[in-house]
Amino acid sequence: MRKKVIAGNWKMNKVLSEANSFVDEVVEKVPNSDQVEAIVCAPFPFLASLVEKANGSKVKIAAQNMHFEDNGAFTGEVSPVMLKDLGVTHVVLGHSERREYFAESDETVNKKTHAAFNHGLTPIVCVGETLEQREANETMNLVEAQVKKALEGLSADQVAKTIIAYEPVWAIGTGKTATSEQANEVCTHIRNVVKEVTSEETAEQLIIQYGGSVKPANVDELLAQSDIDGALVGGASLEADSFLQLVEAGTK
Ligand code: 13P
Repeated sequence: MRKKVIAGNWKMNKVLSEANSFVDEVVEKVPNSDQVEAIVCAPFPFLASLVEKANGSKVKIAAQNMHFEDNGAFTGEVSPVMLKDLGVTHVVLGHSERREYFAESDETVNKKTHAAFNHGLTPIVCVGETLEQREANETMNLVEAQVKKALEGLSADQVAKTIIAYEPVWAIGTGKTATSEQANEVCTHIRNVVKEVTSEETAEQLIIQYGGSVKPANVDELLAQSDIDGALVGGASLEADSFLQLVEAGTK
């Protein structure tokens, strides 16, 4: 049985004192269950402090992006070496906001996925279609291409350890959640694509999250689907209470 992975993506929100008190509270109240993993994806300036606060707890700290090079003349960028050195365990790659506003491409996501594994970080790779693409019936082909390119060149063992987050762009921050059937249909397709490029055994280990307007009121139904193993959550992860309810849902 795959465990559930609930990740809160704060995006560009909070100041350090708010981030610290959130993690203090979550560390204290997070359910002590092996069924669920709780990850906080925080802005770079908070990572060192949050890793220290989460140390020894069940809460993991993730970055929201990184460069694929180890170091060099890349002003403003943060490398996998820096994240690993801080004690960060996961990194979100290819979020649709990075694809839309910061020219992230399937090629750079692939380079970053390799860089993450080269440095012992677990990538959370985001894929998903826009409304226009869904209406043009392109969802399955597009998501398939994104997944294949992101995972290109990885070993089966690395693929098995990757987390894929299916986030339809039209459901992000809009309050429009994909129905659990719509979400599961694409997550099943992702697992089948991974099976095709690796093996059934590898595909069965892969954690696939759904993201897009997930909240305590709809999380149970989403997590009950056959191929949804967790959630990548924006808005509803900003308050500790709501984040804890989502993590709790993963224990059921
Ligand atoms: P919302 O949960 O705010 O829709 O954001 C989803 C998301 O983009 C998580 O990465």
